[in-house]
Amino acid sequence: MRNPPKNPPSSSQRPPQKSTQAPKPLPYKPQPYRPPESAPAPSPLTAPTTSSTPPRFIPPRSRRIPLYLAGGVALIGGAYTVFIHRSLSGPPSTLNVPADVTDRYDAKAGFFDAEVNWTEWAWGIKKLRRKLTQKAYGDVLEVSAGTGRNVDFFPLERCKSVTLLDLSAPMLEIARKKWMESHPAYKNVRFLQQSALEPVSSPGGDKFDTVIQTFGLCSTPEPEKLLRNLEKVVKEDGQILLLEHGRSNYKWLDRLLDNSAPSHADKWGCWWNKDIGAIVGASELQVVRIKRRHLGTMWWIELKPRKRRGHSEEAIEDTSDEKQLKLEQRGIAEQHVAKKSEKK
Ligand SMILES: C[S@@+](CC[C@H](N)C(=O)[O-])C[C@H]1O[C@@H](n2cnc3c(N)ncnc32)[C@H](O)[C@@H]1O
Repeated sequence: MRNPPKNPPSSSQRPPQKSTQAPKPLPYKPQPYRPPESAPAPSPLTAPTTSSTPPRFIPPRSRRIPLYLAGGVALIGGAYTVFIHRSLSGPPSTLNVPADVTDRYDAKAGFFDAEVNWTEWAWGIKKLRRKLTQKAYGDVLEVSAGTGRNVDFFPLERCKSVTLLDLSAPMLEIARKKWMESHPAYKNVRFLQQSALEPVSSPGGDKFDTVIQTFGLCSTPEPEKLLRNLEKVVKEDGQILLLEHGRSNYKWLDRLLDNSAPSHADKWGCWWNKDIGAIVGASELQVVRIKRRHLGTMWWIELKPRKRRGHSEEAIEDTSDEKQLKLEQRGIAEQHVAKKSEKK
């Protein structure tokens, strides 16, 4: 006979026994499902869950904003492309505009700043103006100063005197007002209404340490003569600083500039299709640095006067050394023109 097991099996080990009792009612009544109140109401675009068509993707809000932005950019880009295409395919402007459009500035002066503010902001030109003007020192001359868009950037602690010069009296008057507002305590400033093609000297009767010009070559019918005059008024060891705009690195863009140049000059008093590299090369001034931006249309130029012999600027001799130097100077400026042609 077998002995009974010492420990009876636990309930989990026991085989299931048939219940003889009736099932107890559930302690709660199931409710039909209702979406929480905070949940978004089903949109007509929401994917139908029971249909056989695949659900439509609706990006979350955080992703929709960049999509809208991208759409906006594509739209503007498209409109811009159409504008460029129409400008390039259309016939060149037949407007009969004189080479000298400097008189346009008298009429433009009152709204010049308002019209160029946005474009200059978009192209980062204010930054370039600041950087260039910050290089000024000593007796400083700014020619073609216009409405004084560089006034805020002069490092006055390094400027012995500042002379602002422009052909247009209304433009210069705006520059004068800006200066008085920005630098009321700085007394060594002068405003000269005259041509940058004419002689000018510092308040002490000397030549200048720094001559600066921003967007002036486009406005004069005699850009080479203007550069030569800047050379005459700057000290032998002085600097000529230019920020200019002109032809680009690309044929298609040059065509666009050429086609629209007459109407632009008529409106703005500036020929924006000038070959700045060729003008600098022809002036034969010493090139210290040339940098180009904005597809080659924006020119940052640092120049020095040609080496002089004796005390007169007329005494620039064409010895073989001088000739060699001139060729080198011209070469640097023309390299930029050559690079441009290579890219085309
Ligand atoms: C495009 S605006 C540039 C103004 C300013 N430099 C700037 O950066 O906004 C050209 C300016 O050059 C001036 N200008 C044109 N020819 C000139 C000349 N021969 N002598 C002096 N100023 C001249 C015009 O009166 C005008 O104010």
